[in-house]
Amino acid sequence: MDSFLIEGGVPLKGEVLISGSKNAVLPIMAATLLTAETCVIRKVPDLSDVGFMAKILRSLGAEVSLEGGTLTVKAEKLSGFGDYELIRKMRGSICILGPLLARLKEARVSLPGGCVIGTRPIDLHLKGLQALGAAVEVDSGYVRVHAPKLDGQMVFLGGRVGPTVLGTANILMAATLAEGVTVIESAACEPEIIDLADFLNAMGAKIHGAGSPTITVTGVKELHGAEHEVIPDRIEAGTFAAAAVATGGEVILRGARPDHLGAVLDKLREVGGVVTRNAGSLTVRGGGVLRPVDITTMPYSGFPTDMQAQLMAVACLAPGTSIITERIFESRFMHASELMRLGAEIAIEGPSAIVKGGRPLSGAPVMASDLRASAALVIAGLAAGGKTQVNRVYHLDRGYERMELKLQALGARISRVPGE
Ligand code: EPZ
Repeated sequence: MDSFLIEGGVPLKGEVLISGSKNAVLPIMAATLLTAETCVIRKVPDLSDVGFMAKILRSLGAEVSLEGGTLTVKAEKLSGFGDYELIRKMRGSICILGPLLARLKEARVSLPGGCVIGTRPIDLHLKGLQALGAAVEVDSGYVRVHAPKLDGQMVFLGGRVGPTVLGTANILMAATLAEGVTVIESAACEPEIIDLADFLNAMGAKIHGAGSPTITVTGVKELHGAEHEVIPDRIEAGTFAAAAVATGGEVILRGARPDHLGAVLDKLREVGGVVTRNAGSLTVRGGGVLRPVDITTMPYSGFPTDMQAQLMAVACLAPGTSIITERIFESRFMHASELMRLGAEIAIEGPSAIVKGGRPLSGAPVMASDLRASAALVIAGLAAGGKTQVNRVYHLDRGYERMELKLQALGARISRVPGE
C-alpha cells in the first residue's frame, strides 16, 4: 500500500487545475444504464472510484471505454445480474439501483456495508423506490427490487439528519421512466444533483427543480444517448484552498466554481484566508494570522461534511479554541486521533470536536482511514515541521486525481512511496 512522504513548511504557490467531480460522475455513470444508446461523458476524473464504477457497468453488460478523461458507455445489452458484490466495496455504486429498476424492472445488489464514517443505511432509497411501486426484499446481505411498472408519486425523502444525496439520485433516475409525475420532497440540493438532472434532461428526461428541495419529474417512455461535461469537484477545490491557507501560500484554483463553495469560502475567510474571485478561477491566500472557527456540517448549501476534516486540520493551526460539530455522519472524526499524533490538541465531545489550536505541528507517521480524513492528514503534514508519512493513501486515490503531482506543482515537498 502506497504512502505519501511529506516534508512540511513550504507555502503552496501556483495554479492547480480542478478535476471533474467524483460525486457528480458516479451517479451520471449509473444514469447511462437508462438508455441503450451511446453516452459520452467528458472531464471524467482519473480516480479509482471511477474505475470501479466502470467495472460494475461492464459486469452488467455495458460497453465502457475511458480515454483521456472521456468516458463512452453503451448499455445496449444489460445482463440480469452483474457482479453485485462490487457494491459492498464502494458505497457510491448503490446508485445503479434506480436505473436498473427503471430499465430492467428489477435489480439485486449487495447491501452497501457501513464504513468508517457511519452505518450508511439505504432505508430512504428503498422507501422512495417502494413509493414508485417497487417490491423490496432484503435477504442474506442482498436487496432485490422489482416492479412490473413504475408509477409517478409524491415521495418525501427527508431522513433524520436531512436529505440523502444518492437516495435523491436513485429516485430521480427511476422516476424518469415511471408513468406519470413524481414529486420528490426534501430532495438533496447538492450541485451534483443538478449536474445529474442536467445529464438526464439531455437524455430526454423531463426534470424541473433540481437544486431545490422539491424536484418534479414527468416520466417518459424512453431516454436516448447524450453528451455531458462533468462539473468541477468542489471538494477537491475546497481541499486545495484549505491547504493554501494552512501553509500560508497562495493558490489559483483553475476551473473552481465559487457558486458551489459558498459555505467553504466563508469559513476559510473566517479562519484568516483571503479569497479572490477571478474569471474562471478562485485565488486563495494564507499567510496572515489564523483565527479559531466554529463549524457545523449541514446539508447543502450549509457547510459540507466532506470538508469537515480538512478545516479541522486548518483549525489546529489557529491559536484559540475551534468547535467543529458533525451533524451528517455519526463517526466522522477518525482524523482527530491522527492529527493528535502531529501534536494537535483535540477533544471529542459527542458530535463535536474541541480543537485547541496554535501549537506548531511536528511531522510523524500517520494512518489514513477514509477519503477526506486522509486529505486532512496531508494538509496537516504540509503545514507541520519535519517529515510526515501518510500511510494507506489508496483512500486518497479514490477521490483525488494525482494529488501528490498537483501538490508538487505547487511547490510542496511530497512524494509517493510505493508500498508492498
Ligand atoms: C454522498 O453520500 C456523498 N457520496 C458523500 O461523499 C457525502 O458525504 C454525502 O453524500 C453527504 O453529503 C457520493 O456522492 C458518492 P447521504 P450519500 O445519503 O448519498 C443518512 C465523499 O467523501 N441516510 O446524503 O451516501 C446517512 O446515514 C463521500 O466524497 C439515511 O439515514 O450520503 C447520513 O447520515 C463521503 N438513510 C445522511 O443521511 C438513507 O437511506 C446523509 O447521507 C440514506 C442516507
